Amino acid sequence: MGNLVDLSLPIEPITPNHLIGTVGDIFLQERYERLLSLPVVSDGRPVGVISRHNMQKIFMTRFGREIQGNKPVAAFMNPLPLLVSVDQSMEEASHFVTRNIAFPITEDFILVKDGQYHGIGSVIDLLRGMEERIVEQNLSLSKALSLLKASQSQIIQSEKMASLGQMVAGVAHEINTPLGYVKNNLEMAGEAFKSLQNLGDAHDSLLADLQSGNASDDDVHQQLNRIEILNEQFQTVYPKSEMDALFKDTLYGLQQISEIVVNLKNFSRLDQAAVDNVNINQCIDSALLIAKNVVKHKAEVERNFGTLPAVRCAPSQINQVILNLITNAAHAIDRPDGRIVIRTQADQRHVHIVVTDNGKGIPPELVGKIFDPFFTTKPVGQGTGLGLSIAFKIVQDHCGSIRVKSRPGLGTAFCVSLPVHVSAPVEGKSS
Ligand SMILES: Nc1ncnc2c1ncn2[C@@H]1O[C@H](COP(=O)(O)OP(=O)(O)OP(=O)(O)O)[C@@H](O)[C@H]1O
Ligand SMILES: [Mg+2]
Repeated sequence: MGNLVDLSLPIEPITPNHLIGTVGDIFLQERYERLLSLPVVSDGRPVGVISRHNMQKIFMTRFGREIQGNKPVAAFMNPLPLLVSVDQSMEEASHFVTRNIAFPITEDFILVKDGQYHGIGSVIDLLRGMEERIVEQNLSLSKALSLLKASQSQIIQSEKMASLGQMVAGVAHEINTPLGYVKNNLEMAGEAFKSLQNLGDAHDSLLADLQSGNASDDDVHQQLNRIEILNEQFQTVYPKSEMDALFKDTLYGLQQISEIVVNLKNFSRLDQAAVDNVNINQCIDSALLIAKNVVKHKAEVERNFGTLPAVRCAPSQINQVILNLITNAAHAIDRPDGRIVIRTQADQRHVHIVVTDNGKGIPPELVGKIFDPFFTTKPVGQGTGLGLSIAFKIVQDHCGSIRVKSRPGLGTAFCVSLPVHVSAPVEGKSS
């Protein structure tokens, strides 16, 4: 049953001048199985209806027909029938009928097309039609839902890729600095090595001359002079203290690079299980290192870590949440004394991570929107507006909560609370 036209039963109408008795004949002859109301029509237009209830009152009561039979139907009809246009949608019609019909069990409504009588409709048929419509709508809604889910996981994936891109840029920058001076130092060490080789060559040739016993005193003297000059040059250009520092710096630079690599591995947990017992303080340190490039020109970071129990969670997801909170904080800061405080603490059931900044804050009218997907106040190309919505979903999947408190002009605090015992994410969500 697709629309209202299908609902309409083409009951032959009567005119207002019909006598009730004759109506009774029609009524009995046709033996309306469903005993519907009788439509009253004049010049094709519905002018009234005799409800089933009235019909029964007249024809089923004793001597009803004998007493009423000679009166015209106009005397018994309801002159204000409920008219429903077949051009309306099923939903509109249903809304209209349910609001206006006084006795849904015994009354029917008249369907009209362009004001002309089209048939009779009953509440039960309308209900059936609506039920079918609801089944259809449920079907298309569940199709839409699965499409939505598919595109949601695509969005999450692309946000992950975007933050991975950002992260890679940040990490590349972080590696570049130590790499730069390790390279310089090595070049310098290479040059020093060349000078040392010259010195060594001079020593070798002196040694060879001395061993051969053929060299004159003059020769030996000259060679000793040359060695002394080369040695002095070497000591002046490459003093021992500087060379020591150069090697120390180089080792430090390499150490920094390997630290970054270890952290990167920790951060993405590519080599570890998706769900693990994790020290959240370490997650924060990893995220801080990744975000260093974004944060360093914006704010001083204060870490105020409490002793935490291990939390069972998907560390790469929790890292993503923390990274977004830290980068958001840094982006919100536009003052010389920028400050981000990251505090952790645990109570009996939860681990709490609070990221506070003294940035520009969030206007009260926008606070309710920041967790919406695609809500961003950042210029095009700088923010997708997905960070917090994904963070919300990840925290929700871990049975945790994320709250925000902000005062425009003063700063913002985000608090993520994760339950210690049941915080493994539900499988298959927020990958
Ligand atoms: N610490 C904060 N201070 C002020 N405003 C914030 C802060 N954190 C979030 N916001 C506001 O919430 C918005 C949504 O943040 P969200 O992390 O979801 O997206 P985004 O940072 O704009 O973009 P993306 O994270 O996808 O790169 C931000 O654009 C910003 O207006
Ligand atoms: Mg963000």
